[in-house]
Amino acid sequence: MNTNPSFVKTAVIGHPIAHSKSPLIHNEWLREHGLQGSYEAIDIEADALAEGVQALVERGYAGFNVTLPHKVAIMALCDEVDERARLIGAVNTVSVRDGKLYGTNTDAFGFAQNIISADLGDWSFDAGTAVVLGAGGAARAVLYALLEEGAPEVILLNRTREKAEELAQMDARIRVEDWEGRNAAVKGANLIVNTTALGMEGKPPLEIYLSLAPASALVTDIVYAPLMTDLLAQAQKRGLRVVTGIGMLLHQARPGFELWNGIMPEVTPKLEKKVLG
Ligand code: ATR
Repeated sequence: MNTNPSFVKTAVIGHPIAHSKSPLIHNEWLREHGLQGSYEAIDIEADALAEGVQALVERGYAGFNVTLPHKVAIMALCDEVDERARLIGAVNTVSVRDGKLYGTNTDAFGFAQNIISADLGDWSFDAGTAVVLGAGGAARAVLYALLEEGAPEVILLNRTREKAEELAQMDARIRVEDWEGRNAAVKGANLIVNTTALGMEGKPPLEIYLSLAPASALVTDIVYAPLMTDLLAQAQKRGLRVVTGIGMLLHQARPGFELWNGIMPEVTPKLEKKVLG
């Protein structure tokens, strides 16, 4: 049920923002549900965040998504930040109510739902060790999701080991290993996740060999351009199950849409096709 019958203004803020797929996703959902509302991409530079957000509040926005470079800085401007966003250390979704800003993070939801909604037979998060490559901003949300979904153990590997050690403070189930040991670390893995930007168009490839990964392992990548990264292509060639990264982007958008418009939208093959353009 749409709990807000008036025109609902929403947006994504970031810099740069022109490339954002979020307007495409949200406007498709607004159309699909016949809702009166808008979702724009608004460019706000790092040093203009406070004024930019204040302007949105004054203009009556119901909420907005937050992307680079504002995901951490926005936290200080929120009146309330929920527990998951605090633990992930970033806010990507803000609701405005009575002039107050409420921040949450939907990236962990997006990561988990992308896998849950894939047709994976008997595969489950709690069946074994997850191997996570990378310890940047995206890794925090992935770790949160894995722990929430019941992964019994997570092996975390990052080129800069100290960053992995810092993230491992999140939970005793996270164990750090050396980046150089990644080919061996996948032995016995239930899930292998790339959270680095390696493999993305214009970036160096992620160098890893999956020959020791068990046949039951699931491999997923947060990179979605290209959709079939070298990592996923290698996994598929070895007969492993793969989930592409585009679904994380689509699913992370759902809770924000629900908060602002009162309807939980679905991710359909049609939407995915549209966003992949
Ligand atoms: P964000 O915080 O936005 O996710 P980031 O801090 O740039 O992005 O992190 C990207 C991740 O990719 C990091 O784990 C980074 O490793 P470092 O912590 O050692 O920088 C990883 N990464 C980037 N380039 C890499 C490379 N050439 N080899 C290995 N890891 C790399």
